[in-house]
Amino acid sequence: MDIQSVGIVGAGQMGNGIAHVFALAGYDVLLNDISEEALTNAVALIDRNLERQVQRGKIEADVKAAAMARIRTTSRLADIGPSDLIIEAATEREMVKHAIFEDLLPHLKPHTILTSNTSSISITRLASRTDRPERFMGFHFMNPVPVMQLVELIRGIATDEPTYKALLAVVEKLGKTAASAEDFPAFIVNRILMPMINEAVYTLYEGVGNVRSIDESLKLGANHPMGPLELADFIGLDTCLAIMNVLHDGLADTKYRPCPLLTKYVEAGWLGRKTQRGFYDYR
Ligand code: CAA
Repeated sequence: MDIQSVGIVGAGQMGNGIAHVFALAGYDVLLNDISEEALTNAVALIDRNLERQVQRGKIEADVKAAAMARIRTTSRLADIGPSDLIIEAATEREMVKHAIFEDLLPHLKPHTILTSNTSSISITRLASRTDRPERFMGFHFMNPVPVMQLVELIRGIATDEPTYKALLAVVEKLGKTAASAEDFPAFIVNRILMPMINEAVYTLYEGVGNVRSIDESLKLGANHPMGPLELADFIGLDTCLAIMNVLHDGLADTKYRPCPLLTKYVEAGWLGRKTQRGFYDYR
């Protein structure tokens, strides 16, 4: 399977980072979002992030220009149908993801591989609602995508070997490292990371520490690059809550119960950096 063109659904923080790394690795990228404004913002952000790499001597200016030239955008989902590989990076809500795949199906080429960048939702269940569960996989990037080395590859129950091998080759071409995970709630990274973040929110909720002391403790005491509450703001508190709910529902264990304070912040619309307010105030 020779993959050259990549269609990406969703121009948010994950979608734009994924577009960035694919364009840099030489793929033709078509980035889709229902919002033209989101597409414009995403292209501007990719340009800024590539420029940062030029300034730090990581890439040459002509490499940046070539990468930018490989990125096109569209607000029509159907346009990305003919891509060799499709990566869905929309919001972490299962119904939204099902609807996207359903709308895409009539426009796909027979060989198109479908993937989801979901951080927790069952790949087998997403795949089962498409016409190609054997060519469907979980393709999970970490944030910020241009910086983080890992990509989780998750096979659904029906995923075939050529599809898995094709994605392994893509990860290699991106210069990243693949970790294969079985299809259970939240896979590997978030199965471990999210309960830690949730526990940090409980630590705050129960008054064991305050926002700064909790973050400082993990940064200086466990060498984490960001404290757990700062990281939660960075990921998005809505995403953290969605992942905790998938763990809680899927594994039916109270140890995954989302902290009521996390729920309250999400209900307030305090979603972290993207809304300029979360555990920290970015206004
Ligand atoms: N694009 C390109 N380069 C970027 C970038 C971006 N978006 N963001 C940061 N960088 C680069 C910087 O240019 C810098 O490069 P050099 O090493 O060449 O100087 C480097 O990354 C470090 O950045 P900064 O100096 O600006 O800041 P920092 O040292 O504080 O690092 C960080 C920032 C990389 C985000 C670091 O704080 C970190 O690793 N944080 C933890 C991130 C993490 O845990 N991510 C996983 C989240 S979980 C997930 O994504 C899964 C999920 O499903 C929820």
